[in-house]
Amino acid sequence: MVKICCIGAGYVGGPTMAVIALKCPKIEVAVVDISVSRIAAWNGDQLPIYEPGLEDVVKQCRRRNLFFSTDIEKHVAEADIVFVSVNTPTKTQGLGAGKAADLTYWESAARMIADVSKSNKIVVEKSTVPVKTAEAIEKILTHNSREIKYQILSNPEFLAEGTAIQDLFNPDRVLIGGRETPEGQKAIQALKDVYAHWVPEDRIITTNLWSAELSKLAANAFLAQRISSVNAMSALCEATGADVTQVSHAIGKDTRIGPRFLNSSVGFGGSCFQKDILNLVYICECNGLTEVANYWKQVIKVNDYQKNRFVNRIVSSMFNTVSGKKIAILGFAFKKDTGDTRETPAIDVCKGLLGDKAKLSIYDPQVTEDQIQRDLSMKKFDWDHPIHLQPMSPPASKQVNVVWDAYQAAKDAHGVCILTEWDEFKTLDYQKIFDNMRKPAYIFDGRNILDVAKLREIGFIVYSIGKPLDPWHKDTLAVA
Ligand code: NAD
Ligand code: UGA
Repeated sequence: MVKICCIGAGYVGGPTMAVIALKCPKIEVAVVDISVSRIAAWNGDQLPIYEPGLEDVVKQCRRRNLFFSTDIEKHVAEADIVFVSVNTPTKTQGLGAGKAADLTYWESAARMIADVSKSNKIVVEKSTVPVKTAEAIEKILTHNSREIKYQILSNPEFLAEGTAIQDLFNPDRVLIGGRETPEGQKAIQALKDVYAHWVPEDRIITTNLWSAELSKLAANAFLAQRISSVNAMSALCEATGADVTQVSHAIGKDTRIGPRFLNSSVGFGGSCFQKDILNLVYICECNGLTEVANYWKQVIKVNDYQKNRFVNRIVSSMFNTVSGKKIAILGFAFKKDTGDTRETPAIDVCKGLLGDKAKLSIYDPQVTEDQIQRDLSMKKFDWDHPIHLQPMSPPASKQVNVVWDAYQAAKDAHGVCILTEWDEFKTLDYQKIFDNMRKPAYIFDGRNILDVAKLREIGFIVYSIGKPLDPWHKDTLAVA
């Protein structure tokens, strides 16, 4: 029986290993983590992450061939294949701070593998890492090995949160990179055999190590670039009277462009796009490719511009001040169907409004008050480090109130902002919301999910990203 161990029981390690265990009943899969509370949650009734379909998969194989444990050394020692799916945040200090990937967690995992291994192993990079990381990992493992042979593979993960189980069941592709030696090819085949239990062979791509590592960064950069491109267009649409949804539809019909990932928004968020592009930029700079680095940097700049533009639009339309005004924030997660708030655009929008002394009433169906307060008090890039490095009890801000109902959030508010595209926000009773708000009542739709004409009929002043402006907003064009 093949034994797999995955170091890191997070958004990637947990769902990915659960699906491997489900699809490969003859493989024993152990997911290990240094976080005692995370492992306890994986073994309990309330899983540590919200992901549609995940609970069902975990329940089918937990304690059958899927195990969650803090006994890291035992499971690593016993495994034939060790996946490493630990966090690879942006460095906050020292060389490359604010750009380079921090490989502290990866390195400590690699050193631990070297310390406890008693048999040959395939070590799989599941985390997103800078290109050439496998070389460093190989050095750590081989310099510490006692006659033990390691093969390093790069097998980046492409799942998106909110659709992780669907993506894992039916991936567009599985990418495996390895050494072009007979041993390297043998290791690739061993990992291919695992995925072949459910992924059609023509969707399993094999490459050399560096292509696999770089393809992951490239894929995220291309995806994020699409969003920044359409968001840049949204600003031009507002200036000219074009409608960004119509423009996206029209260009997406070109099969070379395609319709997906062209939704204009308040900006992209999530744990990876920004981090991975910054990492890509850093690698380009280290290789002397300044123009290439600047090209990708612009994707982040436009994303920051979009978030600022949204805040400025709110403030300028409310007579250039939101001081003391109640603003309802509907949605805090970085996208729908997840409780994840890492790098959510809501953090920057809320901080921008708080900077202008607004009072915020925040509602998200999946995010806790503790998480929101923590996010709003944390420094940039600190969020992706273990909990003990984060502020323990963030100062509760009197300007921020977290509620469990959209109507309560909007009661007596001057404005409502939609920051996450949760389905339930599409079907709220907006007449009721309008009746209970201060007038003029504003709605700022940062996700383009609402029926603008209907809202205007009710009496709202509506701003929807990239859509023709209300006369009200045209008159308050003091927007950055
Ligand atoms: P995460 O923070 O949810 O999980 C990482 C886990 O690793 C944490 O639980 C942490 O406690 C644990 N950990 C850190 N160091 C450890 C060590 N030495 N030993 C044992 N456990 C350790 O992160 P994530 O979202 O699962 O992302 C993991 C990696 O996958 C990152 O490199 C990320 O870029 C990449 N990735 C993420 C996604 C996503 O959608 N979140 C998708 C594709 C790739
Ligand atoms: C993204 C990629 O889609 C995954 O392939 C990749 O594995 C993952 O990053 C990763 O490496 O972590 P994820 O961040 O979970 O997945 O979610 P996305 O669906 O890509 O959304 C990212 C952000 O872009 C969200 O804030 C979303 O609202 C925004 N977005 C997405 C838009 O603003 N417009 C769109 O058209 C699509």
